[in-house]
Amino acid sequence: MKYIDLRSDTVTRPSAGMRTAIYEAEVGDDVYGEDRLVNELQERVADMLGKEAGLFVPSGTMSNQLAIRSQTQPGDEVICEYSSHIFNYEGGGPAMLSGIQLHPLHAENGILASEQIAAAMRPTDHHYAQSRVITLENTHNGAGGVVYPLPVVEDISRYAKNHNIRMHLDGARLMNAVISTGLAPSAYGEHFNSVSLCLSKGLGAPVGSVLVGDAECIDKAHRFRKMFGGGMRQIGILAAAGLYALDNHIERLAEDHHRAKTLAKTSMELGYLENDIAWTQTNIVLLAFPNGNTKEIELKFKEAGVLVSVVNDYRIRLVTHLDFDDEQLLRSIEILKQVLG
Ligand SMILES: Cc1ncc(COP(=O)(O)O)c(C=O)c1O
Repeated sequence: MKYIDLRSDTVTRPSAGMRTAIYEAEVGDDVYGEDRLVNELQERVADMLGKEAGLFVPSGTMSNQLAIRSQTQPGDEVICEYSSHIFNYEGGGPAMLSGIQLHPLHAENGILASEQIAAAMRPTDHHYAQSRVITLENTHNGAGGVVYPLPVVEDISRYAKNHNIRMHLDGARLMNAVISTGLAPSAYGEHFNSVSLCLSKGLGAPVGSVLVGDAECIDKAHRFRKMFGGGMRQIGILAAAGLYALDNHIERLAEDHHRAKTLAKTSMELGYLENDIAWTQTNIVLLAFPNGNTKEIELKFKEAGVLVSVVNDYRIRLVTHLDFDDEQLLRSIEILKQVLG
C-alpha cells in the first residue's frame, strides 16, 4: 500500500528540480574550505539571519550541540523549555558533548517568558552552575509548531543582554515561523547569538542544517564539528539541494500551513484536537487521546493508509510537508472521519 505519510516533514524526497541541482552541482573538498556551493550556502543563510558566518552541518541535532559546545564551558547551565527538542530528543548530548546541565522550564504552549527565565537564573555563587545560554525553539515542535511571538523574543533577549547571557535559537523550522508571521528571518535572528536552521524539514532537502552566528562562535563550532566527526568532503551535492530549497521551497510553506489548518479543523470537529485551533499556526497538528490508546489509533490509521506519529500514550502528531498535496489532504480528511468519527 502507498501510505500518506504525516509522521514528520523530514520524510520528503528530493523533488525533480532538486535532483537536477544535485546532479549538476560542482564540488570541492569542504574540509579544505574548497567547496564553492557549501561556502555560498553558509554565506547565504548567515546573510538571511543577519549574522557574520555560517557552518553547514549534517543535522539539526549536531547544529544545536555545536551551538551549546561553542558557547559554554563544562559545569555551565543552559536554560531551555521542558518540551524542547534539545532537552528531549538529542540523546542527552549536552551532558555528554559539552559537560553542561540543562535547566528546563515548563511553559504553556512552549513559549517561555522573560520573568520566568529571570526567576530561574542562578546567583553568582560557587554553589551554582552558571547560567550561560538561553535556548528557544521557533517554531516549537513539541508544542505543535507554535510560533514564538517576536515581542516575547525581544523581551527575553533584552534580559539576556543585560545579564550577559547568550541566546541560541533552535530554528529547525524557523522558515515556517517566517511564512506564518510575514517577518524577515533577521527580525528573529538579530536577537540571538546563534541560530540553527534545518534544510531537511519543511524545506525538503535530504540532509543538512546551517548554524550561523558571529565569526568567533562559528570558528569554534567549526573546530568542534571536526572533533565530533562532522567534517565532510565533496558535499556541494548537498549544499546544492539546500540552495535549491532556499530558492524554491520557502514561500510554499504557506500551503503546508493551510493544509495543517484544514486537518486541525476536521480533528476539532471530531473532538480530538489537543489545543484551541488558534495554536495550529504552522504545519503541525496535535491530537489528544485522553484514554491513552494512541498505539491502537496509530494502527487503525495505518490500516486505512495514513502514517501518523505517536508522541506518547495520549498524543498523536500529524505534520504536513512538501510531499503532501491537496488530493492526499482530501483522502486524509476522509480517513480522519473514518478512524475517529
Ligand atoms: C525543533 C527541532 N530541532 C532539532 C531537530 C533535530 O534535527 P535532526 O533530525 O536533523 O537532527 C528537530 C528534528 O526533528 C526538531 O524538530
